[in-house]
Amino acid sequence: MREQWFKDAFIYQIYPRSFKDSNGDGIGDIRGIIEKLDYLKDLGITAVWLSPCYKSPNDDNGYDISDYRDIMDEFGTLADWKEMVAGMHERGIKLIMDLVVNHSSDEHKWFVESKKSKDNPYRDYYFWKKGRGKDGKKPPNNWMSRFGGTAWSYDEATGEHYLHLFTKKQPDLNWDNPKVREEVGGIVKYWLDLGVDGFRCDVITYISKVPGLPNGKLAGDNMFTHGPNIHAYLHELYTEVLSKYDCMTVGEAAGVTVEQAILYTGEEREELSTVFQFEHVDANSFLQIVPRKVDLKRTKKVFSKWQNGLHGKGWNSLYLENHDQPRSVSRYITDNPGTDDFLRKQSAKMLATAIYFQQGTPYVYQGQEIGMTNIVFNSEADHVDVLSKTVFALVKKYAPFLKGYAMKALAIRSRDNARTPMQWNAGKNAGFSDGEPWYRVNENFAYINTEESKNDPDSVLNFYKKLIAIRKNSEIVRNGSYKELFEESKDLYVYLREDGGKKLLIINNFKNKEIPFTIPESGERSLILGNYKDVDGEKEMNIILKPYESRVYLFEQ
Ligand code: GLC
Ligand code: CA
Repeated sequence: MREQWFKDAFIYQIYPRSFKDSNGDGIGDIRGIIEKLDYLKDLGITAVWLSPCYKSPNDDNGYDISDYRDIMDEFGTLADWKEMVAGMHERGIKLIMDLVVNHSSDEHKWFVESKKSKDNPYRDYYFWKKGRGKDGKKPPNNWMSRFGGTAWSYDEATGEHYLHLFTKKQPDLNWDNPKVREEVGGIVKYWLDLGVDGFRCDVITYISKVPGLPNGKLAGDNMFTHGPNIHAYLHELYTEVLSKYDCMTVGEAAGVTVEQAILYTGEEREELSTVFQFEHVDANSFLQIVPRKVDLKRTKKVFSKWQNGLHGKGWNSLYLENHDQPRSVSRYITDNPGTDDFLRKQSAKMLATAIYFQQGTPYVYQGQEIGMTNIVFNSEADHVDVLSKTVFALVKKYAPFLKGYAMKALAIRSRDNARTPMQWNAGKNAGFSDGEPWYRVNENFAYINTEESKNDPDSVLNFYKKLIAIRKNSEIVRNGSYKELFEESKDLYVYLREDGGKKLLIINNFKNKEIPFTIPESGERSLILGNYKDVDGEKEMNIILKPYESRVYLFEQ
């Protein structure tokens, strides 16, 4: 059963802008990544997911692409990129590129042409429609941008509106046009031929729209999410291009259910390898940015639903963080007053144990491996992400009285939290850049950084190394069954993995308090991973779990 490399991969996500700046302009770049390849190898990860590094005017930090076949000037050149890939491959690290093809940038030559006239050959690369109202200036339908406000912008030149499910600088590509699908296939082939090992497919569930673009429920979502041709389009991309390479795909699939995930990833269906589902991160937020109290029971239920739902039928993606989510230690752990650094480390290790012993492909986001945290926001100006800015603009326009709430909500939920520069050392700008960083460095870099972590045997980083090494050789983690125990507990997340007579018992205390616990399995056991040096009753049945303690026991018969 050892086929399909992505099932054995441990993937590290790099957000290039914030990873490492090599030339002092304050912006992370490809040569910066090259400098850190040994760090990645040493961590033990086997693949990198690189957020977009293509040419882009950066309205949404690279998620608005103006040339799919070249590298963003700020990040370097195609030659740098080739050197980076070679360096990765030499070290046994695969590269997964971000594929952002639901939309392009409005500065892409296709859109520039498309805008020119109604009969331009590129007009149908995008969605253009007459507006409502006497002057036709009202949006053609009720669809809302994922970032808030209408999903349409009016263009004076031709008197029509174009569709953008994100910012107005991210016009949606019309996948119903076979030429667009051919272009996408060509782009995918281009990068695969250059040695890429896979793609993370950005907002892929939106690529097929209901013909005629009719009004939908609420914000119109049912007219463009999992649309009528989505499976046909993905299958086509698979048969035409992807199937000819040893590559993997992971589709970003907000709102996907277990049943739909099986359709997208079932092997015989030949569409995607895996998807990112969002239910566990949505378990403590609404609409991405509105916070909701952390409820461990609700979160556990989601974990178990996906573990059981995809076992033997699909394959899970395991993540707690990415460039769109706040930092997990700040998000899931709300009962550490924040002043206790020992407990921050313990909770970061516990969270890793809770998620990465599940079945699926693990993803770790840059900085998560040292337990980086959210930042402190003092003013609106501290937010730079286009989503945060859009929220503030909408609040200002429609509901100024919500400003205070918006500040509070965005402080804990905004994407800015994940995008602060990577903390390499305690020196200038956390070792990220010699120049002025494009975004604020978290003040806690003096004690949260990779250098400090390397030297401390009990660091989060060294814990990740251990965990990654254990996972690599474990058939149980890869193939074993999953069973949640103590489902009613509001404090503990406990589960059992089992394969070929061997069992792993994974115990996680999500609370900042001691909790008495009785080991639910009998038989000889050994502690293969834990986050405390002094373990209470390592071999006994009745134990006391310390704050945020986690333990992984192996039962071999
Ligand atoms: C995805 C990306 C996000 C981006 C959006 C539009 O959700 O992860 O960062 O803003 O797509 O491309
Ligand atoms: Ca730079």
